[in-house]
Amino acid sequence: MLTVIVPASSANVGSGFDSFGVALSLYNRYQVLDLLPPHTYDIEVIGEGGKDLAAGEDNLIIKSFEAAIANFDIPPVGLKLRSYNAIPLSRGLGSSASAIVGGVMLAKAVGKLELSKERLLPLMVELEGHPDNVVPCCIGGFVISAWDGKEVKYVKLPYFKERIKIVVAVPDVTVDTKKAREVLPQEVSLQDAIFNLSRAALLAASWVTGKLENLPWAMEDKLHQPYRAKLFPGGEEILERVKSVPGCLGVAISGSGPSMLAFVKGDPTRTAKEMCSVFTEKGLRSRFFVLDVDQEGARIKETKAKMLEEVDRCPTIA
Ligand code: HSE
Repeated sequence: MLTVIVPASSANVGSGFDSFGVALSLYNRYQVLDLLPPHTYDIEVIGEGGKDLAAGEDNLIIKSFEAAIANFDIPPVGLKLRSYNAIPLSRGLGSSASAIVGGVMLAKAVGKLELSKERLLPLMVELEGHPDNVVPCCIGGFVISAWDGKEVKYVKLPYFKERIKIVVAVPDVTVDTKKAREVLPQEVSLQDAIFNLSRAALLAASWVTGKLENLPWAMEDKLHQPYRAKLFPGGEEILERVKSVPGCLGVAISGSGPSMLAFVKGDPTRTAKEMCSVFTEKGLRSRFFVLDVDQEGARIKETKAKMLEEVDRCPTIA
């Protein structure tokens, strides 16, 4: 038996639209229970999205698994899978990326493929359409990526000594990424381009050098957040209010939303409470996670028996 473990991820980090992403210490676990005849799949989903996730061929894990099998000439085989999901769906936390990375890593494991993650990444990025979730999900860390439609270049930023906690507030509402891309303008002013270019460069440089006091500025954005913060209640207010909470280093929409991400130094409670209380004021239920940057990314783990430990550690939240 084997299990592929994949982290959640938060894309954009404010100014780094379609390029910056952070792997988070919240995981989906895809456990192979048996091998089945080619193109036959039996998937049981436990946890987030259990009832809603397509169990048939529309399932993104299956699509990605089949794409990897075809791409890397692996002898076709089907799977009996159990998926323990802790990553909330359609909340801007990289659940699609985790399915894509998971499917490709399952093909690598089952096909005993001796290929590095580096070699698998272009297929993963192609399946997702942009690199900012799948690259950190696959390799871990805070990653800056660029993709030209064929190749992906990336740099994983060092996780500097001073510990940062990540608070993710997840409201009880979903945002469709496709729609959240459709609300963006096709053309932007030179002024807005300069704004983001300077903030994104400042964010990368400030993270690497530990100049965390720059983050509230460096995470500001004019390319996507002003349009998307209007798509769900509380988005604009959290961007405005939460950065002044003591200890909060910066706040951004996580991916295309509606979850919100904050970097925090010290006790994360005040920041988390402030984020959730804005959602409450707007009449939305929400929950929060206090997380770390996952440094390892997707991994394959051999397992002997049923994964009791994994079941215990997989939070299923109603
Ligand atoms: N960079 C992507 C976006 C991430 O913001 O649309 C969401 O998948």
